[in-house]
Amino acid sequence: MAKKDDEGDRKGVTRRGFLQIMGAGAVVSAAVTGADAKPAASIAEPAEMAKIRLLVNGRHHRLLVEPRWSLLFVLRERLGLTGTKIGCERGECGACTVLINGQPRYACMTLALEAEGQEITTLEELMKGEGLGPVQQAFLEHDAFQCGYCTPGQIMATEGLLRSNPNPSFEEIRHGVSGNLCRCGTYEHIFRAVRRAAELRRG
Ligand code: FES
Ligand code: FES
Repeated sequence: MAKKDDEGDRKGVTRRGFLQIMGAGAVVSAAVTGADAKPAASIAEPAEMAKIRLLVNGRHHRLLVEPRWSLLFVLRERLGLTGTKIGCERGECGACTVLINGQPRYACMTLALEAEGQEITTLEELMKGEGLGPVQQAFLEHDAFQCGYCTPGQIMATEGLLRSNPNPSFEEIRHGVSGNLCRCGTYEHIFRAVRRAAELRRG
């Protein structure tokens, strides 16, 4: 549980400050795992590219994509939305979680082509201008991260859970974030943060 003395400071953390905290964790984790390494892939001929339109965080984007590109790759490398993290890239860790039509999904396991016509929400959308949204605020208040690499995915899973179930039980919280691994083992803090996020969202 976060100490009361810390809470005042944390309530004053801005969007920029929060992203810097997350970014620092990301650098450490990437250095350890090499997770941000880009695939050594040949470039497709223009004729092989597909024209798609993606609706991301309320904005329409027209893109040329290779049919094999994941939504994760397109979000980060074509749209610059690096709040969505690269972890295992095989549907095991949840670092890449985004919302598709309000439901948590692994962006690494979703082709960009499949996401056309769907409503995609990323971490960046949950900010309130320069301030934090309720889920980020709750994670900060409860120290629900150490290195921070899994945190964007945990936050998106929490957001998806609370959109469908605004007042989850403890078991529902455990189940709701069970697809998101935390190698630092901060699960107890994450569960408390989800409960607090539910309170903040309900007002
Ligand atoms: S990066 Fe691990 S599930 Fe997508
Ligand atoms: S805080 Fe380090 S992996 Fe979750």
